[in-house]
Amino acid sequence: MLSFRFPFCEANGGRLLGIVSIDISEQVRTQRALSAALASKEVLLKEVHHRVKNNLQVISSLLAMQAESLQEPAVVRALRESQQRVQCMALIHERLHRDDQADSMDFGEHVETLSRDLFHSYGVDSKVVQLRFETEPVWLPLSQAVPSGLIVNELLTNALKYALPSGRAGEIVVALSCGGDGIVRLTVSDNGAGLPAGFDWKQSQSLGLRIVDILTRQLDGTFTLEDNAAQAGAVSSLRFPRAAGETPDESSTAVGAARVSGKRPGRSGTGRLEQTA
Ligand SMILES: Nc1ncnc2c1ncn2[C@@H]1O[C@H](COP(=O)(O)OP(=O)(O)OP(=O)(O)O)[C@@H](O)[C@H]1O
Ligand SMILES: [Mg+2]
Repeated sequence: MLSFRFPFCEANGGRLLGIVSIDISEQVRTQRALSAALASKEVLLKEVHHRVKNNLQVISSLLAMQAESLQEPAVVRALRESQQRVQCMALIHERLHRDDQADSMDFGEHVETLSRDLFHSYGVDSKVVQLRFETEPVWLPLSQAVPSGLIVNELLTNALKYALPSGRAGEIVVALSCGGDGIVRLTVSDNGAGLPAGFDWKQSQSLGLRIVDILTRQLDGTFTLEDNAAQAGAVSSLRFPRAAGETPDESSTAVGAARVSGKRPGRSGTGRLEQTA
């Protein structure tokens, strides 16, 4: 019961005290029911992240087992890279399961964990290849964190594979920011071997840069890969507009099987990384 008291004067100067009481028990009951429903939905969403992470880890283990049973180095490497891509997605669901927020994350923090995990899984000696971060907290919904994470995974893998291969010393810098214009800027630069002469990433038909191209389109962003003007090596830059927080229902469409199909988009128009609910 909500009560308001207000003194007032009668025409003859007499003073009275008015009291108005409103029964709000119905509103309180509704509010409590809504809070309980929201809490149970959050628990359910976290459970979904937990299960998605577990399933992705099973896929990752299957790929690892298959790689162990094969001899051909190129096939083993391809399976290992696919395993790393799956791990990269699993890491996002693990974080969303663990954190307070179930539908968005601090991608600045995530990108550091993701990069360190990748270095660890490729057994990189941190004294030989140094990893430096220039990141700030940038909150991204799941629907943007998954493609952005996969792009970082491809760029770091390339930096280790081509820029600083087999014991070559150098540095990889991962930078992330989002200014007042709402544009997320992500760069991965290295001081390694540099791009092949005359290389144009847009013409590349290899899987890694095709994945980057497809995911950049999903983010409504732009991507460039060029020689590092400041020093030897290469620099990749991704820009995209940061989406406002989405409801768990909307962002959960990213919790789906992804498959690469068709040819490179832009020329064929059929290439895509599909997410199925
Ligand atoms: N940081 C880099 N330094 C030097 N060359 C690079 C760098 N990043 C990409 N490249 C060049 O771009 C090419 C295409 O890369 P892309 O990731 O598409 O294919 P890939 O790594 O060869 O194969 P995968 O499909 O397994 O990723 C590489 O073969 C390499 O020549
Ligand atoms: Mg690659």
